[in-house]
Amino acid sequence: MDKKKIIELLNLDLQDEHGAIIQYLSHAYAMGEGEMACETEGVARDEMRHLDWLAEIIVELGGQPSLKRGKQNMAGKTVPEWMGNDVGLEDGAISAYKQHIKLIYDPKIKRLLKHILDDELSHRVKFEHMVEKAKTQGLKDLRGSRNDSTARTLDWAIGHEYTVVLQYMFHSYMTKNAEAKNQLEDQAINEMQHMGWLAEEMVSGGGSPVIEYTTPDQSLKTPDMLKADIKIEKEVAERYDQASKEVNDETLKALFIRIRDNEKYHIEVFNDVLKKEENR
Ligand SMILES: [Fe+2]
Ligand SMILES: [Fe+2]
Ligand SMILES: [Fe+2]
Repeated sequence: MDKKKIIELLNLDLQDEHGAIIQYLSHAYAMGEGEMACETEGVARDEMRHLDWLAEIIVELGGQPSLKRGKQNMAGKTVPEWMGNDVGLEDGAISAYKQHIKLIYDPKIKRLLKHILDDELSHRVKFEHMVEKAKTQGLKDLRGSRNDSTARTLDWAIGHEYTVVLQYMFHSYMTKNAEAKNQLEDQAINEMQHMGWLAEEMVSGGGSPVIEYTTPDQSLKTPDMLKADIKIEKEVAERYDQASKEVNDETLKALFIRIRDNEKYHIEVFNDVLKKEENR
């Protein structure tokens, strides 16, 4: 199999990891705080590591990690139904990885896919147990139908955070500047936290988070990446500042201010890296 075909297969796997991450996070957010939400989020974190490994190999092979989202099953009204759908998603991943392990001969890639497959097998077992656990614990969908201006601000913010997570991850995979890579990875993790805080706030405030993204910047030159990243950070720092003034709820106000200050920190960090990159 030629490199191009391998990259295509790995990108399909990567897209499905992306789909799984969002499906599991959505379920975790909708359950609110608690052991099962934590466990589900833990599985999402495993999938993030898988996505990361796949992206690194794709770049090593000379490809670009896909930004498309793969298979998902967001159906189901109850927690046991969701957990059943998560079992189903793992089944899909297990058969795809088994197939790709057969098709790809490169020993290093084969080994990595087998390693991921082991995780997926254990996720499947975990979700199967969670179907039963969700039934006995009587866990419920905690999301509501709140749709006021605060809910709309939260929706915007969640969508923004999701988009920059993808953007900074893409940039971190594609840059050849080690410091930029490090910082982009770090700030992507911070943006992921923002997404989680906002989504949890949405659920506890009686809303239902919509986890959708818009097209991220896909610059391939480090200075272009950093300029795009700084530009978006400046815009959103402004917007969070505005939002913090518009809400009356003290918790929400504090959250917006905290995120705003994180975004300001990102601006400074990216500016430093950009300056060094331009003076190289
Ligand atoms: Fe995975
Ligand atoms: Fe999995
Ligand atoms: Fe953020």
